[in-house]
Amino acid sequence: MNKVSKWQETEEPKLIQKDFLTLADYSKDDIMSLLYDALELKKQQKMGISHPYLSGKVLGLIFEKSSTRTRVSFEVGMLQLGGHAIFLSSRDIQLGRGETVSDTAKVLSRYVDGIMVRTFEHETVEEFAKYASIPVINGLTDLHHPTQVMADLLTILEHKGKLSGLKLCYIGDGNNNMAHSLLEGAAKVGMHINIASSEGYKPNEIIIQNAKKVGSKTGSKIMITNNPTTAIQDADVVVTDVWTSMGQEKEVQKRLQEFKDYQVNQALCENAKPDFIFLHCLPAHRGEEVTAEIIDGPHSVVFDEAENRLHAQKAILKALLGKKS
Ligand code: CP
Ligand code: NVA
Repeated sequence: MNKVSKWQETEEPKLIQKDFLTLADYSKDDIMSLLYDALELKKQQKMGISHPYLSGKVLGLIFEKSSTRTRVSFEVGMLQLGGHAIFLSSRDIQLGRGETVSDTAKVLSRYVDGIMVRTFEHETVEEFAKYASIPVINGLTDLHHPTQVMADLLTILEHKGKLSGLKLCYIGDGNNNMAHSLLEGAAKVGMHINIASSEGYKPNEIIIQNAKKVGSKTGSKIMITNNPTTAIQDADVVVTDVWTSMGQEKEVQKRLQEFKDYQVNQALCENAKPDFIFLHCLPAHRGEEVTAEIIDGPHSVVFDEAENRLHAQKAILKALLGKKS
């Protein structure tokens, strides 16, 4: 953590958003200010200093997909901030029996102070945000995983001491939530990003174009290629994710075939910088998108990354739920 250099604000941080749905909605200064607050909260927590910024506040957690890290880190984060979280599986609440998103959002707004939603279509979290009078946090959709990428940025910042000017390489399914949020996040903070993916699995074109526009201002260069060796050249950070995301289970066999040349392994990583770090949001499939040698090897920081979900999200929760008190 000593490696982290002082970040100079270029404008007054403005947490003007009610919700946390994508990183595109936040300015570079917003993101950096959240990351530095996360570092401070992490330091305090390690020193046993309590920080009950959300005393008496309650967060509802709606899950339409499985989760280990997101559920536990949000629950523990709320507790450490002096608040409380309620786990709401869509199997148990009326949403799963057809109650509308708008009615659910309006009703929950009368009880709780914020809602985290993990779901399929990105439009569902947008609809929650539209009808809820309280902050809505995207806990993963098919299109984005912004809280994970905040944890990734925090981990890179801790290990490399900076974000701007580094080169991140993502290899694998370029059309999933992680690839999209990494594109948005890297462009915002001025980090170069190369994405290597098989033809037909390139990132969403609108997200690429927006990231390029943002990157032209922050100095972030963006490369989308189908050649993993080109993409990983001199990378400071190597990232991958599962080849089959939640909801795509029927395509497993097709995807194993499609991405077989996109495995992060020792031979490929020889092309990265000698001190590269390896990130994976987890859960991982050893032997598919990454070899055990890499994910369990000396360059891997995946458990720091998993831990940082907690600290990054506490900064987000404090900013969104605590700002009016
Ligand atoms: N990385 C991540 O979001 O993990 P979970 O699916 O376990 O929440
Ligand atoms: N892309 C993966 C991320 C899991 C945290 C999925 O959506 O399943």
